[in-house]
Amino acid sequence: MDISTDLCGIALDGPVLNGSGTYDALAARRAFGEALDRDFPFSAFVSKTITGPPRDGNPPHRLWETPSGMINSIGLPNPGLESFVSGDLPQLVGLPVPLIVSVMADSVEGFVTLIEAVAAVEGVAGIELNVSCPNVHSGLIVGEQPTETEALMKALRPLTSLPLIVKLTPNVANPENVALAAEAGGADAVSLINTLKATAIDPDRNRPWLGAGGGGLSGPAIRPIALAQVRIVSAAVTIPVVGMGGITDGESALEFILAGARVVAVGTENFRDPAAGIAVRNGLSAALERRGFASLAEAQASTLS
Ligand code: SIN
Repeated sequence: MDISTDLCGIALDGPVLNGSGTYDALAARRAFGEALDRDFPFSAFVSKTITGPPRDGNPPHRLWETPSGMINSIGLPNPGLESFVSGDLPQLVGLPVPLIVSVMADSVEGFVTLIEAVAAVEGVAGIELNVSCPNVHSGLIVGEQPTETEALMKALRPLTSLPLIVKLTPNVANPENVALAAEAGGADAVSLINTLKATAIDPDRNRPWLGAGGGGLSGPAIRPIALAQVRIVSAAVTIPVVGMGGITDGESALEFILAGARVVAVGTENFRDPAAGIAVRNGLSAALERRGFASLAEAQASTLS
């Protein structure tokens, strides 16, 4: 089964990526050595989101399991741009697959600094703009508003010829309006969905379980919402869509492709099974074959009736 594809000019040997922040490739490499490089679980690697200044992240608890999913309140802990560029980034560009670096800032100027620094590094294949993290107060403002999203993209587009992928929030009534604005501003692709705003309550202490009060829900529980949003957004825009939200196997990956996603990303399932990307990739080939598709491209071109 030929499952090779491309994402806005990035050639991929398959359509399964990781969701940002759900797989630590450098820790996996330390644990599994060269065996990881021989069968890397994803066809492109998306880094954990990097911000300009270092961030400690949110107070504990940061993770809460729910029926068929989890809430995370991580809060984007990261070493900051300078340390990332001199530390992790040179190692990440050495991974056996294309590297997409995820960045987030709370101002246009902050994004400009991040894009200029990351785009200057040889070997970076693309940049994902996280305008949708529910765990940082400022993270949602741009991604909730089409005009803000378009203005941000217009400021960033001239800075690099690398593909710019905008990660959309599901926490708006009409995600297609933000996607259309991202496209109008020059985005090369959109990825969706990020997590849904959620919380968990501890009745004994009469307070939320999560240190920050709330977080973002992910996992199979959100898959139907993600599929609906991917379907609506991919019908609205002409740029490719990276679909994610509760993908656990080849069948669920195929659902996203048929809903209009060009490629898919596995997120929460990586916490349960670090080899989930391989299972999804192999399962997708089998799922395509069962439906009589001759290739991934044939499924990507088919439209839902
Ligand atoms: C986090 O670190 O808070 C999760 C990242 C995200 O939701 O974008």
